[in-house]
Amino acid sequence: MPPTRTQLSQAYPIDSSIDADGRLQLGGCDAVELAREFGTPAYIVSEDDLRARAQAFVEAFRTRTKDFDVLFASKAFPCTAIYRVLAQEGIACDVASGGELSLALRGGFDPARIYMHGNAKSVAELRFARRAGVGHIVIDNHDEIERLEAVVDDGEPQPVLLRVTPDVRGRTNDKISTGQADSKFGFSIAQAPAAIARVQGSDRLDLVGLHMHIGSQILELEPFRLAIEAIAPLGDFSTYNLGGGLGVAYTADQEPPRIADYVAAKVDAVTRVLGPGKRILDEPGRALVANSTVTLYTVQSVKRNVSTWVGVDGGMSDNLRPMLYDSVYEAQVADRFGGGTLSRLAGKHCESGDVIVREVELNDPRVGDVIVTPATGAYGHAMANNYNGVPRPPVIMVSHGDARVVVRRETYDDLAARDVE
Ligand code: LLP
Repeated sequence: MPPTRTQLSQAYPIDSSIDADGRLQLGGCDAVELAREFGTPAYIVSEDDLRARAQAFVEAFRTRTKDFDVLFASKAFPCTAIYRVLAQEGIACDVASGGELSLALRGGFDPARIYMHGNAKSVAELRFARRAGVGHIVIDNHDEIERLEAVVDDGEPQPVLLRVTPDVRGRTNDKISTGQADSKFGFSIAQAPAAIARVQGSDRLDLVGLHMHIGSQILELEPFRLAIEAIAPLGDFSTYNLGGGLGVAYTADQEPPRIADYVAAKVDAVTRVLGPGKRILDEPGRALVANSTVTLYTVQSVKRNVSTWVGVDGGMSDNLRPMLYDSVYEAQVADRFGGGTLSRLAGKHCESGDVIVREVELNDPRVGDVIVTPATGAYGHAMANNYNGVPRPPVIMVSHGDARVVVRRETYDDLAARDVE
């Protein structure tokens, strides 16, 4: 029976498949050939997948409301090529630091459509945002109000949103839950009225609305609705930024809500609870980029003691998520999908916690095999690091049989590039 698309879980990019010889194809390119050409580890991004998800968000809003914007929460995958593709798709951008702002500008985002976040923005970052003409700054705390007023001494008031925490929790890892009252982000519902009054009284700041973000990798819609209900008593504003948070499938058995259903839930709740005609902003990060990307590794060792340990040439330097959040990933031998050998997929780093997948069925894994882990586009490259002096992987974009390097692999010289002695 010829292999079909359905053999791949939904964690893979939309334009991936297994060919008649059982080899993984990504954006029209053979995964093992990509590994040979560009080396491993490597992040492989499907450009079509990225564009399709951006279009799905925009389309879902367009069919339900007139006044909206979809913002790429760029912390999920901050690199020029990704910014560029998403800017071309007509979406706007959220940045969480001066560094992300600088990358977003390089990637071609109109500064007027950039929203700047952060619970500890420095004066330098606020000045940079102001000088660059950032459209909106999202105010997080009282200290920042003072600091921003001091920076805005040169003319037009700065449009701002005020971040509030609705005290609603989605079911997700504590480390990525942000909507609780006792959060390092934003003003609690109890504190918000005073903060709103203070910003409304400022002649240097122009409060256009509220912002909230309850957390990330949320696989149900109810918390998003409850959060909208929770902020309703804070007043009537023209604009509401509802944050991101839509979860994605990391494995075949996870079933996240569809983008269209997530958007419908949010738009319907805003219309019902906050009233019609509101400008609705949404800030997806993970749901835009996670499934666009896979990571390719090469097996360096196969050790059998109590378990079978399959050691690859990457790990917690290119994917911190299993170690930080106990996130579960799938893995396969890229040209021999299937199971048979219960394995622990281990990274190359000098600590026992460096396990990429705790339990995975691989098909007779051998040294030299290329291993693929899907759904690494969100917060993979973003949180990559140089632990053990391991150079960070390249980002390769694939589309219709073409593959191009959009971030080159780090070199050993790069590792010493900032050393002054
Ligand atoms: N808006 C704000 C203000 C945020 O803080 C975040 C994520 C987003 C939007 C996008 O959320 P998303 O749609 O991606 O769920 N490193 C963690 C995720 C941290 C998320 C931080 N904020 C991880 O790898 O799971």
